[in-house]
Amino acid sequence: MSLLEVTGATKRFGGLVAVNAVDLRVEAGGIVGLIGPNGAGKTTLFNLIAGAFAPDAGDVVFDGRSIAGLHAATICERGLARTFQIPQPFGSMTVLETITTAALLHGRHIGRAEQAARLAAERVGLQGREDVLTGSLTNAQKKRLEVGRALGTMPRLLLLDEVMAGLNAAEVSRMLDVIRRLRGEGVTVLLVEHNMEAVMAVTDRLVVLDSGRKIADGPPLEVVEDPQVIRAYLGEDDAAELEDSDAERP
Ligand SMILES: Nc1ncnc2c1ncn2[C@@H]1O[C@H](COP(=O)(O)OP(=O)(O)O)[C@@H](O)[C@H]1O
Ligand SMILES: [Mg+2]
Repeated sequence: MSLLEVTGATKRFGGLVAVNAVDLRVEAGGIVGLIGPNGAGKTTLFNLIAGAFAPDAGDVVFDGRSIAGLHAATICERGLARTFQIPQPFGSMTVLETITTAALLHGRHIGRAEQAARLAAERVGLQGREDVLTGSLTNAQKKRLEVGRALGTMPRLLLLDEVMAGLNAAEVSRMLDVIRRLRGEGVTVLLVEHNMEAVMAVTDRLVVLDSGRKIADGPPLEVVEDPQVIRAYLGEDDAAELEDSDAERP
């Protein structure tokens, strides 16, 4: 049984079908990448899984139980946490306070929550910065804080939404180390990411969305060669040109 099983998930916004009958499985211990052009429905799918809103159709099963339509906090309590594409930490709170607030989900014991928060800060390389105000962190540190905040709730499945966007090569490499270490600690990861080099470096399966539909699912090296995926990324005209130039080659 997969840790996460999404079947036929559908979400409409008025006339737009943002997520259209999507099936997705994530096996325990895996790092799965979710890619696709802007507006493909990646964040909306995360929102369905994490309980920001209920699917209009389909089901989301986490660890053998349906979580579709449950409150985000309930889903998080069961061990599924997500990061937000645009982190909005309260600048007047410290790193430790921010993660502790998330960790309090599991009970009102402040000492225990703080202990979990210190561990989470260490897991994302923010040890020594626990007392820094989040407003004075660098962009890369804010991204790692966002991962740390999610980790503070001690998830078994972590959904990461573009945590490498806007980072330079050294910072990306640092984030990749954080993600690889999570796997070693038994945290399963589903990752939305535009940086293909980073995606290829860390995932063992790739799922591709385009206009709300799943168009590919498989080993990363096979998926990026899939003509349908290339077409989704380049647009029909450019893909046709590419095929023409291929055909012209001797
Ligand atoms: N809350 C919302 N209300 C209306 N439309 C939305 C909302 N969220 C997303 N959309 C639309 O749904 C589509 C998918 O968006 P999104 O899931 O954010 O894509 P991605 O994360 O792949 O870039 C887009 O056309 C977007 O404009
Ligand atoms: Mg998005």
